[in-house]
Amino acid sequence: MNNWRGISIAAGIVIAASIAVAGNASAQAPIVVKFSHVVAVDTPKGKGAEAFKKFAEQRTNGRVKVEVYPNSQLFKDGEEMEALQLGSVQMLAPSLAKFGPLGVREFEVFDLPFMFDNYAELHTVTDGEVGKSLFRKLESKGIVGLAYWDNGFKVMSANKPLRTPEDMKGLKMRIQSSKVLTDEMRALGAIPQVMAFSEVYQAMQTGVVDGSENTPSNMFTQKHHEVQKYITLSDHGYIGYAVIVNKKFWDGLPADVRTMLESAMKDATKGANEFAKKDNDDAMEAIRKSGKSEIITLTAAQKSAWKKALVPVHKENESRVGKDTIEAVYKTTGFKP
Ligand code: LMR
Repeated sequence: MNNWRGISIAAGIVIAASIAVAGNASAQAPIVVKFSHVVAVDTPKGKGAEAFKKFAEQRTNGRVKVEVYPNSQLFKDGEEMEALQLGSVQMLAPSLAKFGPLGVREFEVFDLPFMFDNYAELHTVTDGEVGKSLFRKLESKGIVGLAYWDNGFKVMSANKPLRTPEDMKGLKMRIQSSKVLTDEMRALGAIPQVMAFSEVYQAMQTGVVDGSENTPSNMFTQKHHEVQKYITLSDHGYIGYAVIVNKKFWDGLPADVRTMLESAMKDATKGANEFAKKDNDDAMEAIRKSGKSEIITLTAAQKSAWKKALVPVHKENESRVGKDTIEAVYKTTGFKP
């Protein structure tokens, strides 16, 4: 064979082979991250999930595809944790109240009423040693904790004005599945009703429950204000999230992809936490403007009556949540019971 011809055939084979390799690489299916959550897109968590999708897909140059399923489309709260452990979804951001039923009761420290006065106090816990040690407890459940995302402070809604703890007596109040929240409602003389988030609107509409507690952004986006005549700005507790992934999936990712996803999560978290307060303030303003619910602001004396009724729930839950965890939070925030 003519030398030149031989070389060009050989070169042709090399080029064809490298095209095939490149073709295969680009045709390789992306790694899919199914991210399921129960709230609307236009909420702090909904926006955080969208931001993570954007950063993750950009930074991995399409090697990762994030599919976000909002509004309990895939799983209701109460079902999603098991779905993550089984690998049916890879990522979730359940509210911190959802970790007690998983068996990691220390997370219920975040449900204790009046535990945090503001976001800054809360962040000293989530950004500090307590936040890290809580994440370590998830590993044995096959879960890795990636970030804490804020929602905000809870208000109380009903069809009657709630100004004093006594006003809560006998009301059927929807709560998330949490022993601490059960005790909180009992301390007010109310009847706690555990129910999935997606079912609350209808339960309010049909009178299955009289009211609920949640953040303004959750209430507004679920239209609770359309079926509740009064909302009290009680700020009696906090709702936030832990963004978590299936450990087997996470550990099995190529190391460079994992690093890129960590950086995407870091920036999504920054954005989510920066806007959470504004989202809740805006939602409250939109409720006010709708004219559908009357908004009640508590006087200082009324607020301290709610505190007096609810702070004993800390002590009551000491053995469940863990005295060490509660005290570590007190120490971090400077809370005095
Ligand atoms: C709830 O009331 O169930 C909410 O915490 C849902 C959520 O994820 O914000």
